[in-house]
Amino acid sequence: MSYNNIVKKKVRTKYNLPLIKQFCRDYNKKCRYFGLTGKDFSDILDWNSYIQDILTVEYNKSLVPELIKNIHAYKLDSKTRLVNSDVIKLICSNDPRIDYPFDIINFDFLGTFIYQFNNKNKEKRIERIEVFNKIIKKQGAFLKAGRGFLFFITINGHRGRDISIFENALKSLFRKNNRKEIKWLLSPDNNVRQYQKIAYVLPVLIFKKCLNLFDVKQFKIIVYQANQNIMVHLCYYLIKNIKAHIDFSDIDSKMLTESDIILIRKDGKEKYIKGNQFFSTENPFNNF
Ligand SMILES: C[S@@+](CC[C@H](N)C(=O)[O-])C[C@H]1O[C@@H](n2cnc3c(N)ncnc32)[C@H](O)[C@@H]1O
Repeated sequence: MSYNNIVKKKVRTKYNLPLIKQFCRDYNKKCRYFGLTGKDFSDILDWNSYIQDILTVEYNKSLVPELIKNIHAYKLDSKTRLVNSDVIKLICSNDPRIDYPFDIINFDFLGTFIYQFNNKNKEKRIERIEVFNKIIKKQGAFLKAGRGFLFFITINGHRGRDISIFENALKSLFRKNNRKEIKWLLSPDNNVRQYQKIAYVLPVLIFKKCLNLFDVKQFKIIVYQANQNIMVHLCYYLIKNIKAHIDFSDIDSKMLTESDIILIRKDGKEKYIKGNQFFSTENPFNNF
């Protein structure tokens, strides 16, 4: 599968790249990257002049020869390390090959929010939010105060079956603040797509994980069509907190619903939509 389609390219070059450039300017250095490049290294090729060091993880063994071939072909040998493993296992087991801290973490997952270590062993399920939590803590432990990193997260909003984490988080948000968008997202008789719930809840969960450790700058949420799927893409700049504790919990839902969401259609056409509209529309992609 190629990830070099017009939509992903747009996300990487129009929305991610300016953040990376700004990061390099501010810190006066190139970035250390940790993420899932896939066999084509499309993200790296788009960001290459701003990257000094790459740690890429690939769990699909059959893709490894192609990754190695492309590392040579794209002359990335001197700055790339490839680990053939499951990134979630590496993170959860504190594998020393993940040498924190990184400047860019690109979690460009194909799958859904719920992760199973093993299909047969349902006990071993883990919600990716726990993995994000671990990464954030590790970054926080290794970064100096006042230093930050870019965190890009892409989650498939279409394929998941178990959405209890979102339902539960929505219910608890609704208890604190009975906004009409949350009510709509929770209502049983509408046809809310999973991507709308993810786009609403995931940023709130991430903010919570960052409290006390980082100041969070969240950029506009991007929701895009990719093949048969709808992906939710989140971009953060997290700065290790040098200020006193900031409590985002009262403003987070407001901030989300009032900020613009960027929708990108399969053909690359894009549209900005207000959060409160996105979170209460049956199918936002129909109204281009
Ligand atoms: C969506 S692609 C990466 C695309 C690339 N970042 C880009 O911008 O074009 C994700 C890659 O990571 C691999 N992958 C997905 N989940 C993974 C996991 N949990 N551990 C390791 N590799 C994973 C997939 O096999 C695939 O090659």
